[in-house]
Amino acid sequence: MVLQTRLMSVPRVITVHTRSGARVHHKPNALLACRILRSGQCRSLSNINVKDKLSARYLFREAAIIDGKDFPSTMHFQVYDPATEAQIGVCPDLTPRQVDEAITAAHTAFQSFRRTTSFERAKLLREWRNLVMESQEDLATMITLENGKPIAEAKGEVAYAASFMDWFAGEAPRAYGDVIATSVAGNRAMTIKQPVGVCGIITPWNFPAAMITRKVAAAIAAGCTVVIKPDAETPFTAIALAKLAKIAGIPDGVVNVVTTKSFLKEVGEKFCTDERIKKLSFTGSTNVGKLLMAQSSSTLKKLSFELGGNAPFIVFPDVPVVDAVTAAVTSKFRGSGQTCVCANRIFVHESIYDEFCELLAERVSGFKIGNGLEDGINQGPLIHARAVDKVEGHVEDAIKHGGKVLAGGKRATEFGPHFYHPTVIKDAKPRMKIMKEETFGPVAAVFKFSTEAEVVALANDADVGLASYLMTNDINRAFRVAEQLEFGMVGVNTGIVSDCATPFGGVKFSGFGREGSKYGIEEYLNIKSITFGGIGAPY
Ligand code: SIN
Repeated sequence: MVLQTRLMSVPRVITVHTRSGARVHHKPNALLACRILRSGQCRSLSNINVKDKLSARYLFREAAIIDGKDFPSTMHFQVYDPATEAQIGVCPDLTPRQVDEAITAAHTAFQSFRRTTSFERAKLLREWRNLVMESQEDLATMITLENGKPIAEAKGEVAYAASFMDWFAGEAPRAYGDVIATSVAGNRAMTIKQPVGVCGIITPWNFPAAMITRKVAAAIAAGCTVVIKPDAETPFTAIALAKLAKIAGIPDGVVNVVTTKSFLKEVGEKFCTDERIKKLSFTGSTNVGKLLMAQSSSTLKKLSFELGGNAPFIVFPDVPVVDAVTAAVTSKFRGSGQTCVCANRIFVHESIYDEFCELLAERVSGFKIGNGLEDGINQGPLIHARAVDKVEGHVEDAIKHGGKVLAGGKRATEFGPHFYHPTVIKDAKPRMKIMKEETFGPVAAVFKFSTEAEVVALANDADVGLASYLMTNDINRAFRVAEQLEFGMVGVNTGIVSDCATPFGGVKFSGFGREGSKYGIEEYLNIKSITFGGIGAPY
């Protein structure tokens, strides 16, 4: 019955993604759906009634948003709750040709939006921010449903997302230039900053709201328009944000959301090669970042990339072990270890090593795993089966190379196929996979070190350089080590470096460009210099 009701509300043709990745287009009717189910071609079509879980039902929309309107499509992909594998809904599987319409809408909107004052844009951003915070519960519910993170964490993400709107509302009127005395007597020059134009925004699944607002709020503050492509695992939060943007009064065409799964590669290429897109901001893997950069060479657009990390977390012996463990837990297990800034390699001084490992294992063993919508859960599922396979591979590899499992170390299938027990591994060694690759899961691998020089070399032995952390009460050591770490961000005596006010970004293969902070808006602006000849000079 549930199945039939659901099918009556879906479009005429539905695209089913099989486990093997193949695409099958179906006319959905109950009979066919049952056949698909019996043949095991796809996951359960049982669904969650998302609207019934929201106080503002209109926030859940199974549509792309182009030029302020729901954009219909005949092809769709399904979105699943990683905790239960139940279907949350279907989303338009847009082709590059359909995405072209979004770029046209953004390009048209830019012609007038660029002329709005920064004060008007700040007002719009504040209005949008207020609506987002009024919808905090609903947005958090959607985040938990599509991403799996516990509801308390999802609410925190909504507040984090809103903080960028607040921040860039403040930055908008301050994006002004300079008056410059030139080398020519009597000449004067000035600079003004102008919006770059239409921006392509490609965002990941691990922060379905905050990775969008960190980019889009900066773009809007600058006077740009955007086409957002959210990850196919988590499109509904992005669509809800665009709906709230419209209610806030942000003009149609300024915020567009395109959803796609089958045409991921082609749509990515479209973003890179379309000359109307003047800037591309991407958060995702290093490999995809390299591809997007290569594809963008023909259009020479402005780029900012936030790519993978492999964060070291260094504990010197002069801090209380209990504080070091608390910070390590905060850094490592946020989003079940699925953030680019999560500690991936924990280096602990030999004199406190055993004590640290024991206390960490004790804390981690006390975590409450389960469906993030339930009370008190602090560890949800991983995003999909591939993520669990990767975590399992890293743990098996660590054990093979002499690592000792102090907590977890296995799948948590009792909760569902995407759960993995939060894990602590003692005696981690540089030859392990976990040293070289970001695990992106709930595995704390603890390495032992003896000297400061040794641990700095170990920490820097990575081709990526996003976040890093160190715990010490020695101020000289804090400066010395922070300055030597080859990372874009260093947290000293804290497990969290993310804040709207501080620049977020990396070096090496973690990408380039900065988000948030006073620098974030610059990524969406061009500097123009205007030189005034000194008629009548010198005076
Ligand atoms: C990320 O994982 O890409 C972002 C993490 C953050 O903003 O804290």
